[in-house]
Amino acid sequence: MAEAEAGAGQRAAAAPIANGERPARGRARILFVGDVVGGLGRRTLLDCLPLLRERYAPTFVVVNGENAAGGLGITPKIADQMLAAGVDAITLGNHAYHRRDIYPYLASHERIVRPANFLRSQPGRGSCVVEHDGTRLGVINLSGNLYLRAGRSAFTEIEVALAELGEVEHVLVDMHAEATSEKVAMGWHLDGRVTAVVGTHTHVPTADARVLPGGTAYITDVGMTGPRGGVIGVKREQAIEALLTQMPVRFETSEEDPWLMGVLISCSRPLRADAIEQVLMPRPAQEATADR
Ligand SMILES: [Fe+2]
Ligand SMILES: [Fe+2]
Repeated sequence: MAEAEAGAGQRAAAAPIANGERPARGRARILFVGDVVGGLGRRTLLDCLPLLRERYAPTFVVVNGENAAGGLGITPKIADQMLAAGVDAITLGNHAYHRRDIYPYLASHERIVRPANFLRSQPGRGSCVVEHDGTRLGVINLSGNLYLRAGRSAFTEIEVALAELGEVEHVLVDMHAEATSEKVAMGWHLDGRVTAVVGTHTHVPTADARVLPGGTAYITDVGMTGPRGGVIGVKREQAIEALLTQMPVRFETSEEDPWLMGVLISCSRPLRADAIEQVLMPRPAQEATADR
């Protein structure tokens, strides 16, 4: 695919806004939220979103939902709940198919995507486009190939996914991967061609958020939205017992110390980021919010 320099694969003009002025083409703020873990993660997302909207006024909100259903997978009801809360698109990862009831939903709903480098025969799609005020955001989900099961190479399939995206002002790539090396490499591979490459899957935020020289916002892992008091989402006693005994242990989602973890990407021109900042927010005090 050709370099996405000015003009390539982009729209000619943004739609006029109500007061007659045109918004700067490509101006957008993208809030991306890391893996939502279980019911507590969902409640944390729903409680934090209004505060984040007030604070950052994001144009788009994209959420990784691969752990939203009890820590593994996502259900149609949960996806509907997230979309109804104003989430524009949901990305997934290696747990995309944990819940069978999501399979037909993945085929019929455009704003939820599973890794584009899974086999084409597997349920769902790998990318989608969402639009606000004349600005179109392409969202692509990828899976790493190291230590994760993905039928095709992320590095070759991203070219296909980008070519299939059509005309968009921005592209966000969720690179769901275990190995930091694959994520760093994908950031460099796409630098100057997409707006952002954000890593997910490890549930631990990394301290390397930056805009690469070509203008692509990058972070190796945004972290998770869920209980910081566990072991990447699992009750810590159970995780430690499994490691101590080397025997199977039934894992449950921790209920301790919920945080929302994500990044905010600010843009003022197509396919480029001006800034990326981490968003690390504890769930608001529960007495102030009704528990759901
Ligand atoms: Fe994952
Ligand atoms: Fe995850």
